[in-house]
Amino acid sequence: MKILVTGGAGFIGSNFLHYEVNNYPDDQFVCLDSLTYAGNYNNLKTIENKSNFKFVKGDITDAEFVDNLFKEEHFDIVINFAAESHVDNSIKNPGIFLTTNIIGTQVLMDASRKYEVKRYHQVSTDEVYGDLPLDRPDLLFTEDTPIHTSSPYSASKASADLLVMAYYRTFKLPATISRCSNNYGAYQFPEKLIPVVISKALNDENIPVYGKGENVRDWIHVHDHNVGVDLIVRNGRIGEVYNLGGHAERTNLEVVKTILKQLGKPESLITYVTDRPGHDMRYAIDSTKSENELAWNRTYSFEDGMKETIDWYVNNIDWIDNIKNGNYKEAYKK
Ligand SMILES: NC(=O)c1ccc[n+]([C@@H]2O[C@H](COP(=O)([O-])OP(=O)(O)OC[C@H]3O[C@@H](n4cnc5c(N)ncnc54)[C@H](O)[C@@H]3O)[C@@H](O)[C@H]2O)c1
Repeated sequence: MKILVTGGAGFIGSNFLHYEVNNYPDDQFVCLDSLTYAGNYNNLKTIENKSNFKFVKGDITDAEFVDNLFKEEHFDIVINFAAESHVDNSIKNPGIFLTTNIIGTQVLMDASRKYEVKRYHQVSTDEVYGDLPLDRPDLLFTEDTPIHTSSPYSASKASADLLVMAYYRTFKLPATISRCSNNYGAYQFPEKLIPVVISKALNDENIPVYGKGENVRDWIHVHDHNVGVDLIVRNGRIGEVYNLGGHAERTNLEVVKTILKQLGKPESLITYVTDRPGHDMRYAIDSTKSENELAWNRTYSFEDGMKETIDWYVNNIDWIDNIKNGNYKEAYKK
């Protein structure tokens, strides 16, 4: 099979490609990525020379380019990870989120229809469900929870999900959607909480925490997310949404303190800053459907996964330094 993975130079997509390229030597993988500020060709170094892997630089919103790529490559499966993904950026500049996350999805689905791919998979997020109150730990998001978005990011992801379901219903596009909770792991761009905290703590810099740090996220190791995407793409039922959750609810403050403790740094580095506007209080995912239908489950506990993740950043400090000094942009040119 030939599989297109968009956004594969980003955090989750690159981890997905490492897993797939090594575990499915008989499948061919093409990574399509425009290498925005969040795309890092260094993330693909360990697989760039594999015979079943190819990188193509291009933009998912460029309909002519995408059409030509599909015409040449004859993809069986399309998995769309490409997105603008940082909520703070969507508050400062919503436009690019609508273009990439909605129009990009439409362009990929039009090509998927025209060239009759067997499966189109949309990587979505639990943020499309909005948030849950802190004082109702019994409430979890299921696939039937109404869409109720808070940020331009989540609204753009929800819009794309609605479009995917419309293409399934109207055009019979063989589509699936996964909605996952907050990921952590290697290769996460140092704008997101965990790599920011590790990087700042290692340099003894102040660590900004929104509000009182009470917001709760349901943390999942990126490997467990990607195994779920793999199972959905290969065995999931067409037209279905599947939730994937970490079953590891932690406040932001707990996450920060876990990192400081492992690095042997003082909690006095924590600095509370003005909260993000519209900040969701709590996310928590019910993944029963994926567990029952696909025999999916998590392999990492939060403690083991975080320990491994913190060790990875400490041992790969060059990876973060290359982003900070801008050298990571040279990797693709070389
Ligand atoms: N990070 C999380 O915790 C999380 C949780 C659930 C779902 N998701 C979803 O998973 C997907 C991947 O997230 P991530 O954290 O790896 O994001 P990321 O920002 O690290 O990576 C996004 C990638 O998409 C590429 N890209 C952006 N615009 C593009 C375009 N127009 N054409 C081609 N490539 C483009 C970027 O260059 C980058 O390589 C996103 O769809 C996101 O919404 C993320």
